[in-house]
Amino acid sequence: MLRQEPHAVLPQSSVNEQARQDFLNQLGKHVLNEITPGNTAAYQRRVLPKIKAEKGRDPESRHEIRKEMVRDPYYQMTSSFQRTVQEMMWNSVDDTIQRQLPDLIATAKTIRDGDTLGSLHLEPDFEIPSYVADNDHHCMPGGYSGDLVDDDITAGALYDKGAFIYTQGLFGPRMDGIGKAAALMIATSFPDLRPNKILEIGCTAGGSTTGLKSAFPDAELHAIDVGPAVLRYAHARAESMGVAIHFHQMNGEAMTFEDEGFDLVNCPASFHEMSRSAVYNVFKEAHRVLKPGGVFLLSELPPYEGVDPWTQFVRDWDTYNNNEPFWGAVHEMDFADVAEAAGFNRNDYWQGNGPGIAEANQLTGAVEVQNKKFMGSTRGGGQAWYAHMTKRES
Ligand SMILES: C[S@@+](CC[C@H](N)C(=O)[O-])C[C@H]1O[C@@H](n2cnc3c(N)ncnc32)[C@H](O)[C@@H]1O
Repeated sequence: MLRQEPHAVLPQSSVNEQARQDFLNQLGKHVLNEITPGNTAAYQRRVLPKIKAEKGRDPESRHEIRKEMVRDPYYQMTSSFQRTVQEMMWNSVDDTIQRQLPDLIATAKTIRDGDTLGSLHLEPDFEIPSYVADNDHHCMPGGYSGDLVDDDITAGALYDKGAFIYTQGLFGPRMDGIGKAAALMIATSFPDLRPNKILEIGCTAGGSTTGLKSAFPDAELHAIDVGPAVLRYAHARAESMGVAIHFHQMNGEAMTFEDEGFDLVNCPASFHEMSRSAVYNVFKEAHRVLKPGGVFLLSELPPYEGVDPWTQFVRDWDTYNNNEPFWGAVHEMDFADVAEAAGFNRNDYWQGNGPGIAEANQLTGAVEVQNKKFMGSTRGGGQAWYAHMTKRES
């Protein structure tokens, strides 16, 4: 079984805790791969004929399907299994963290107070936007904004360790696959871009951030998030890996960075956890802080456009069952419209599959050196990541 690479603040599981977490990992896989596919038969045999009989046609949207599927006993059972495994998984990780929390906090503080490669900037009076503060995204206890004790790092530790289990190790032993995939997409699409200064919006525990930095080792990298505990953790984690990153508590909707300061802005897997108006505001801010000719890249799961209503319904499970209230709305947003409203030229907007995450995980050094190995490949090597890219006019 793939294990997460240790670092100074990664909570260490005892033998019993590891057994519990491994069990939940396998149970999650089993439920997803062996039990939830039975919903297709439930739909075909019971729900679709009912919709057809009532409406005299096939369902036109995932919403019509959901209205009937939520009454189906098989779907109720599988949803309950999925949700329960998710909650059990977070609880198992939280137990491991709480057992060693004072030590983890002390380690993070010692790192912070020593000679550091990067930096950490927290704002005591910072107002966390309600779409983050009022919601425990993907059922993570306390969400991203949790900050319960002095110098808390729990939210960062929960995300780092829990998301590794939750994603079945998809992002690699360093949890940095999203950042590496972003770097590969940039290197493939803008081979002449040599970013000196990079901004990442929505860094959480810093997994994507360290991946991006490993691919652009000479660039100055700034990363922002709104949660203080995720940022404390991300900073200590990056420092303990010997990676120089400047972390800031800042809202991507209203950043304090000066105009035209960055060559590249990356927003990895974060828009699906923002409100609609926040997505528009972050795009505007990305445009403002980019140098002319600079690139904005955002990665998400593929949009719903062009996908049949049943598949949309299946992929929309998180919106209603996993505390991801913006998931469905963001996956049907037209980012070309959003980019244009933010000041980008519509003709400079591109979207499509990026490299497979498993491929990206193999990137072990500067992206310029190794990208050829990955170029030309889209879906190979595991689940593909989807990118939206746009460039500020020169
Ligand atoms: C799914 S996580 C990102 C995962 C991370 N990039 C990784 O690869 O591990 C989304 C993050 O976006 C942050 N976020 C949400 N709204 C934000 C905003 N307006 N400004 C900055 N960060 C924000 C959340 O606090 C959360 O940490």
